[in-house]
Amino acid sequence: MESIWMAETEIRRRETLPGDMEVPVVIIGAGLAGILTGYYLKQAGMKAILLEADRIGGGQTKNTTAKITSQHGLIYSRLIRTFGIGMAKHYAQINEAAIEEYERLILEKGIACDFVRCPACLYSTVEDTLLKQEAEAAKALGIAASFGRECELPFSVAGVTRFERQARFHPLRFLAKMAEEVEIYERTKVLRVEDKCVETDRGYVEAEHIVFAAHFPFVNMPGFYFARMYQERSYVVALEGAKNPESMYLGIDKDGFSFRSQGDILLFGGGSHRTGLKQRECIYGNLRDKACEFYPGCQEVAHWSAQDCMTLDGIPYIGRFSRRKAKWYVATGFGKWGMTTSMAGAHILTALITGDHCPEKDIFSPQRRFTAKAAKELAVHGAHTVKGLAKHLLPSGDTKVIPNCPHMGCRLEWNPEEESYDCPCHGSRFDKEGRLLDDPAQTDCRRRSAGK
Ligand code: FES
Repeated sequence: MESIWMAETEIRRRETLPGDMEVPVVIIGAGLAGILTGYYLKQAGMKAILLEADRIGGGQTKNTTAKITSQHGLIYSRLIRTFGIGMAKHYAQINEAAIEEYERLILEKGIACDFVRCPACLYSTVEDTLLKQEAEAAKALGIAASFGRECELPFSVAGVTRFERQARFHPLRFLAKMAEEVEIYERTKVLRVEDKCVETDRGYVEAEHIVFAAHFPFVNMPGFYFARMYQERSYVVALEGAKNPESMYLGIDKDGFSFRSQGDILLFGGGSHRTGLKQRECIYGNLRDKACEFYPGCQEVAHWSAQDCMTLDGIPYIGRFSRRKAKWYVATGFGKWGMTTSMAGAHILTALITGDHCPEKDIFSPQRRFTAKAAKELAVHGAHTVKGLAKHLLPSGDTKVIPNCPHMGCRLEWNPEEESYDCPCHGSRFDKEGRLLDDPAQTDCRRRSAGK
């Protein structure tokens, strides 16, 4: 089922790439990060074109819950501990500035996209120590944060960390308007990137600067992003007749939920898991049961799922693609915080390309130092990949029907809930006919025939 954003928005169709081109900047991916980067480059006097394999906003932007917030889970106490207060401040400041910039742009351009300022809250039903620490850390970085026990949710909580003056909006209405500001070619699939040349199925683009803003960078080397990220799925049901909170909420407990109002509708989310991991329970079923328990009599009007790229240390990769490619850039690994991160990414990439000063870039650099958390996550990620590759080599009861992933060959897992084949290694997904749904794979997968 499609998201409420898609059901309500018609984005003007664009032409395919008309033939070979030479431009200063080419951006791969016309989601929020790509379009905002194109827009700020244009403001800086630099021509950029965007190449989109599918439709504008057809990737992850259409599936977000669109919380515009600098509250990215329990991040600030960890950032201060790991990177020091200066770097943590850069992370906080660029995300807080992103909220302001959304408001400024929306007002300046008169974009009707239901932009509402509201608090963002983390809650726990079992403990308050981490929440208190997070509120203190955020305050130390200049965020208007507080800890309390007041909550609008339909169950009791142990504590709440609240950030003031965050926001929510309709992401596709915003995107549709901003897309009018930039030059985009749709249904133009990038096949290969080599130095300054981008090869597509419609022609070649020669560019001084190349930006990868298409969710998961599909170039494996250099960069090795496939080894430094994994993907997670999460699920949303949209409810009518529920009691809508004014603030946005996210649970920090293992089985925590997400709550966020959109007009009369409540977006109720949860059930995150690594893509490709077999689930023992029916996730939508669980969400629906909980919705009925919390809001008796509510009606489901839509449901959908999202796929997010997760980095090893929880900080997005925004900056130079690799030390070996001085004029390639990347914005990926946004976790579940694509709204403020897209805006932050657009500013960082614009500054890098135009040569402007941008002190915030270091904390997001894909070449930043490797932390203990990253090392631990790398071991977990590596174990999943080895298991997926081993399954490819070992016979199992399912081998005659389960295909292998065209990205690097891992055995796919059948996901009965979404009727898709999902890859446990790096998160590519395919529909039941084997058609590609989510990258980093670039091609459809072939069904294995019986006995092979
Ligand atoms: Fe990499 Fe499947 S996504 S092997």
